[in-house]
Amino acid sequence: MPEASCDIGLIGLAVMGQNLVLNMNDHGFKVAVFNRTVSKVDDFIADEAKGTAVVGAHSVAELAALLKRPRRIMLMVKAGASVDETIATLLPYLEAGDIVIDGGNSLFTDSTRRARDLAGKGILFVGTGVSGGEEGARRGPSIMPGGNPAAWPHVKEIFQSIAAKVDDGTPCCDWVGEDGAGHYVKMVHNGIEYGDMQLICEAYDLLHRGLGLGADELHAVFTDWNKGELDSYLIEISSHIFASKDEDGTPLVDKILDTAGQKGTGKWTVISALDLGQPVTLIGESVFSRCLSALKDERVAASGVLKGPAEKTFSGDRTAFIESVRRALYCSKIISYAQGYMLLRATAKENGWNLNMGGIALMWRGGCIIRSRFLSKIKDAFETDPKLTNLLLDGFFSGVLNQYQEAWRQAVVSAIELGIPTPAFSTALAFYDGYRAGRLPANLLQAQRDYFGAHTYERVDKPRGEFFHTNWTGHGGRVSSTTYNV
Ligand code: 6PG
Repeated sequence: MPEASCDIGLIGLAVMGQNLVLNMNDHGFKVAVFNRTVSKVDDFIADEAKGTAVVGAHSVAELAALLKRPRRIMLMVKAGASVDETIATLLPYLEAGDIVIDGGNSLFTDSTRRARDLAGKGILFVGTGVSGGEEGARRGPSIMPGGNPAAWPHVKEIFQSIAAKVDDGTPCCDWVGEDGAGHYVKMVHNGIEYGDMQLICEAYDLLHRGLGLGADELHAVFTDWNKGELDSYLIEISSHIFASKDEDGTPLVDKILDTAGQKGTGKWTVISALDLGQPVTLIGESVFSRCLSALKDERVAASGVLKGPAEKTFSGDRTAFIESVRRALYCSKIISYAQGYMLLRATAKENGWNLNMGGIALMWRGGCIIRSRFLSKIKDAFETDPKLTNLLLDGFFSGVLNQYQEAWRQAVVSAIELGIPTPAFSTALAFYDGYRAGRLPANLLQAQRDYFGAHTYERVDKPRGEFFHTNWTGHGGRVSSTTYNV
């Protein structure tokens, strides 16, 4: 029988798993590891983990025997069926009070199900988002744990030790909430990541195709942007990408095929937004933009058939154009985060989760892919007013939007004139104009619904909740339809 001396076990030695293990080891935790392809355990112990206190296990039984009680076992396996299969193989070796942690990008409803199923067996489940890629996992990721609250005291020290820290030393990790709340917040993080990436790509397209900037000039512009309001990990890596050369010395970015992949978290965010009736339009456009990019062959064929504007490059003030693109990017980013937070609010209400909005901004402030200077402004906004209905109404954010909205419009107008697609910039602006509109044309829409389907309408001159039906054609019946909304 091996000695039960390890603080935590980890199953799944792919990139994220390996780096989390080494991070935990750096922080003084003794980690036992297991991998389904067992040879990977020995390879890891002999190579990456050489000279560390990490212990290799060759079976799940051995792993369980190596752990102090209550056992803490973290799974870093592919989201979906693999998580359920791994839990099933573990269960015979677990005792009441042991803790199973899923650190993959699992669908939040799966995490809710697992938390409840395992609670019935006396096992505490944690579904946690882990963001920051390989480097984050190794040096300090953002960690978003949720699930069974009784598990938190048992994992808090390990998680907060290995997590990224903000300037004052606060860890980018705190308890998010029950059930699948941790994975929900990670899902929204990823959706926002899709949005940020799409916005950066639209800025790139405008500056590259619209203004004719080459990779070296783009590197300079992005390096400059990263010193100001847009300071963020994704702007920083984009500036590095523009500076990277292929073997022949030409920019590598120009050699990369323009079709984007996706693993599903952005799509899940949009599905959840639709389910909750929240207009998370920018992430929606970002997911669809990846879908459109994937239709490469169709696009190439259409490019020979469908006409665009005669003028394809911008001919005005170049410095002003770059600044208007920067402002459009910043304003659109504000809209995207405001939409993301609308979704978080709606899901908190729906699921009875007490989500700490400022705390979430703090968790995203460091370690994760969307980390940025901007997130401290979001944290400040919720600190000033924890009940803030919408980020756009915070003084800081409304101030930026009021100051930059003209330039943002100019960037979108230029994009339209040049025939360069900017779906995320455009939908953000449309949302902004819609959100600030005291009156939208939905009066006509309700009239249409009532006209063809007797769906009824409310009136501006009557109290809310009173519904009216008009016999528009003179030959409709007097019966109106019910007024339910989904
Ligand atoms: C992170 C990333 C990470 C991963 C996603 C990307 O926070 O570290 O979001 O979770 O890169 O799987 O998702 P797509 O493959 O869908 O772009």
